[in-house]
Amino acid sequence: MKIAFFDTKPYDLTYFEPLGKEAGISFKFFETKLNENTVSLAKGCDGVCAFVNDTVNAKVIDTLIHMGIRILALRCAGFNNVDIRHASGKITVVRVPAYSPYAVAEHAMALLLTSIRRIHKAYIRTRDYNFSLNNMVGFDLHGKTVGIVGTGKIGRVFADICKGFGMKILAYDKYPADIESVTYVTMDRLLRESDIISLHCPLTEETRHLINYDTLGILKKGVVIINTSRGGLINAEALLEGIKSRRVGAACLDVYEEEGDLFYEDNSNHILEDDVLARLISMPNVIVTSHQAFLTSDALYNIAETTVHNLISFKETGKCENEVVL
Ligand code: NAI
Repeated sequence: MKIAFFDTKPYDLTYFEPLGKEAGISFKFFETKLNENTVSLAKGCDGVCAFVNDTVNAKVIDTLIHMGIRILALRCAGFNNVDIRHASGKITVVRVPAYSPYAVAEHAMALLLTSIRRIHKAYIRTRDYNFSLNNMVGFDLHGKTVGIVGTGKIGRVFADICKGFGMKILAYDKYPADIESVTYVTMDRLLRESDIISLHCPLTEETRHLINYDTLGILKKGVVIINTSRGGLINAEALLEGIKSRRVGAACLDVYEEEGDLFYEDNSNHILEDDVLARLISMPNVIVTSHQAFLTSDALYNIAETTVHNLISFKETGKCENEVVL
């Protein structure tokens, strides 16, 4: 089986090459992202492996089908970058539904602790032998109210971590589950009562810009917003206004709506065109990481293992339990 592997990073090679070899899959690695201009690179392959910022729109799907490709293996959980409706019945789309909810939930907590205890500031200060504690006052998590939007695999782990910190846990989910220590409330109540809000729901038409100019108006003053899910959940311009007006006390962002052409790449020698992102990054109470919440060795191994399993399962049976269906 020959698979065109797009948006390759060095850490992908480490995990995919040996597992692929063992399973008889030959990965053809491309550094470029998959889009309308690069899709022809997959010619001669049996399938394509794509990641979160590859563009799999109707045109890309039609070209893949025209080249005889019948399997698209996403090496991620989210699939908002794929036109699933267009793909349906034409090409099988498989994904990695879970690889390590711990990786993402622990990163969310790492961002929160870094932000509220000013670790990012302290690191820079002490390297410069600046041992002043001025403007470094944080607050205890114990006793605070956290609002979790989406209590699926990652949201639940995050809830468990918050429980360990002695926090009161509110949650909103379209399909509430029975989780001890979590109180389900309306979205409105969650937004009004939470000291910290962490987003763990998928990006859909319903959840796009869940945090917007209107919702910002009802947030508790000084709220900390954490987004390790998808950038589109937040209207970034509204968030910036929220930071400037002091309504939002801090923001921890692992994802950003317009991250597609920026994240995962070294842009340090370029002029950043995105003024909203540049302004957010310039704020002392905003921490941005480059969609790295998933990036642990445990998660990378699981991603490679499940992707290889998905491809082999499709090859041998034409089916796969991790198929994305409408
Ligand atoms: P999951 O499918 O286990 O959980 C999602 C939860 O959101 C479910 O409980 C579902 O009922 C709920 N939900 C669906 N629609 C909703 C709505 N309209 N309002 C509120 N809740 C809603 O997914 P999982 O594994 O917990 O992942 C959550 C998200 O995390 C993914 O959608 C993905 O976008 C993101 N993610 C980010 C990563 C990163 O590296 N930053 C890595 C992996 C996932």
